[in-house]
Amino acid sequence: MIYAEILAGGKGTRMGNTEMPKQFLMLGKKPIFIHTVEQFLLNRRIDKVLICCPEKWMAYTKDTLKKYDVDMAKVIVVQGGSTRNETILNGCHYIESNFGLTDDDIILTHDAVRPFLNQRIIDDNIDGALEYGAVDTVVEAFDTIVHSIDGEIITDIPVRSEMYQGQTPQSFNIKLLMTFFDSLTDDEKEILTDACKALVIKGTHVHLVKGEVYNIKITTQHDLKVANGLVEGDQ
Ligand code: CTP
Repeated sequence: MIYAEILAGGKGTRMGNTEMPKQFLMLGKKPIFIHTVEQFLLNRRIDKVLICCPEKWMAYTKDTLKKYDVDMAKVIVVQGGSTRNETILNGCHYIESNFGLTDDDIILTHDAVRPFLNQRIIDDNIDGALEYGAVDTVVEAFDTIVHSIDGEIITDIPVRSEMYQGQTPQSFNIKLLMTFFDSLTDDEKEILTDACKALVIKGTHVHLVKGEVYNIKITTQHDLKVANGLVEGDQ
């Protein structure tokens, strides 16, 4: 089975004072997360789309899906976790308990607040996760990356041609991902805020999938303005 997991369990604190977490804010004529869900539902290879959101927003999420006429045949609303990785794992545990797991099952984990992904990115993630077991979507770094440990003095300036910026989806063989998360100590779980990093640190090869510059994550009010500019053409 091929699962998509929309990560909508965050609070969106960097968005400032908003009446609801940023994934529920409007982007053009629909809430941000609805745009994201629709992209995954367009892909016929995906069997189920899990939307993981904070417990107290689960009813609201279901109502909103209904309001925007989302076909619920493949959609399941699941409770998120207190960290992004915990949200990812909650989705995996839900799948394990409700559908069982085979060695071939994969999951595409994607930020609810990255509504501009396209079908090519989704297909490449599916192909990559099936072939390699773990893939991360990236774009080449445009700016020089400056590394500073103390925030005052440059520690290093890595070679730009070897630098990439991480996006999502990050996609995995589900059994592989769950086994790795289980092997982490509590301290490692604190530090390893990125699922791909957890795998890399434990020595697993995570392959790259080409993202798109416009596959932006909406983090701040400025990003929301930019995103609204991007959807304007579609109105
Ligand atoms: N996310 C999640 N569960 C969490 C934390 C984050 O599913 N416990 C999701 C967010 O909802 C978002 C995505 O992960 O779609 C990317 O995270 P980020 O942009 O950092 O979202 P927030 O944690 O909501 O934002 P902030 O750090 O500003 O509070």
